[in-house]
Amino acid sequence: MSKQKQAAPLMETIVSLCKRRGFIFQASEIYGGIGNTYDYGPLGVELKRRVKEAWWSRTVTERADVVGLDSAILQNPKVWEVSGHVGGFTDPMVDCKTCKGRFRADKLEDARCPEKPSKIPGECHGELTEPRSFNLMFKTNVGPVEDSGSIAYLRPETAQGIFLNFLNVQQSARLKPPFGIAQIGKSFRNEITPGNFVFRTREFEQAEMEFFVPPAENDKWYDFWRNERFRWYSDLGIREEKLRLRDHDADELSHYSNATCDVEYEYPFGWGELEGIACRTDFDLKRHSEASGTRLEYFDPQTKEHYMPYVIEPAGGIDRMALTFLIDAYDEEELEKETRTVLHFHPEIAPTTVGVFPLVKKDGMPEKAQEIAKELRRARFSTFYDEKAAIGRRYRRQDEVGTPYCVTIDGDTMAEDVVTVRDRDSMEQERVPVAELRGWLDEAVRNWKRG
Ligand code: GAP
Repeated sequence: MSKQKQAAPLMETIVSLCKRRGFIFQASEIYGGIGNTYDYGPLGVELKRRVKEAWWSRTVTERADVVGLDSAILQNPKVWEVSGHVGGFTDPMVDCKTCKGRFRADKLEDARCPEKPSKIPGECHGELTEPRSFNLMFKTNVGPVEDSGSIAYLRPETAQGIFLNFLNVQQSARLKPPFGIAQIGKSFRNEITPGNFVFRTREFEQAEMEFFVPPAENDKWYDFWRNERFRWYSDLGIREEKLRLRDHDADELSHYSNATCDVEYEYPFGWGELEGIACRTDFDLKRHSEASGTRLEYFDPQTKEHYMPYVIEPAGGIDRMALTFLIDAYDEEELEKETRTVLHFHPEIAPTTVGVFPLVKKDGMPEKAQEIAKELRRARFSTFYDEKAAIGRRYRRQDEVGTPYCVTIDGDTMAEDVVTVRDRDSMEQERVPVAELRGWLDEAVRNWKRG
């Protein structure tokens, strides 16, 4: 029997596992990196892809009332003036006149003086400036001339591209509220205090959905999406005791929202926002209608009335989701003679679904194993073939990257066409006829429950 360690894994353990096993690397590492920016390696790419697929599948594919969009990262700069981001997407900053460090004025107690790390800035020998607003949008120039007329911004959220296309999508897809438009894509924020690995970075991916509703149905859909987003995480194996919904106080609300709640997770560094669900009212459609002269309204052919829908927005970060799945899955189990590191990913989130191993490198076993691996890949199982090292070590390596099933080809396979399937979580083994392997794996993935 194994004994699970209850202690929260330290972030450093996750960071080091991610580098060692090829999930996430520091970007531009050989040049010393660039301010909290990361690259995803082979397993990280697969993990993120799985997270995106699971989100898209649940939010778009499985619903009749949500469609997709892929809008541009660069938009007309007026978009960001009208959305309130040019004027309002700011953090109050103070500078230290001595060490020249820059800190968020509203988060000083979390900051440390670079020269005296035991002190909070201002309580060291340095003198701080008055707070000044610092805009979080990255600026660039479009075209060959760098002047004020060519300024453009990298989008700080994917949501605005959805509002701009409200009429295009509604009319081309002939949709009637309530309906949603979903988008996954990169966003950029010049965060002053990025940190905690990929929790807060300057370049990140968002998964956002704007759900347009008749204003009278606002509260009903707000409740629906709060619960639905919480459930999505728990259905994918995140432990419910590590999740909570937290309503924003009035002074926390964004400029566009009259009610917001966060799905929060208890990270090793404390409770933090995993995703937000906001009532954006008709703020964005109204502002863009007024500024552009195009009425972003719905015309109801039955009542012959125009109205501006209200919007419920579930907005999450893919990198933050991937990090949360990693942290929540991580475990160290004390076995009789060793400590087993294991990631208890839901099989739909695991980067690799099945490992295929010949027991030994002879007697036709590698060839048979390769054949089975090929069959599984054809059946769309993400499959990893390995014939190096002792079988126990191969199991451990797959445990550490969260592969839920390992298939071993041995003497019985050669004689009776039966393989051994080993379950990552229970470490139990079962004999399965090769002809039934695909069905067995399909069912195991479908019925998986976190132990
Ligand atoms: N359209 C609304 C919006 O963007 P937000 O709360 O600023 O709302 C939504 O962002 C989600 O995007 C957050 O809950 C978080 O998961 C992710 N996110 C925001 N800033 C991030 C950053 N700097 N790094 C990583 N993820 C971030």
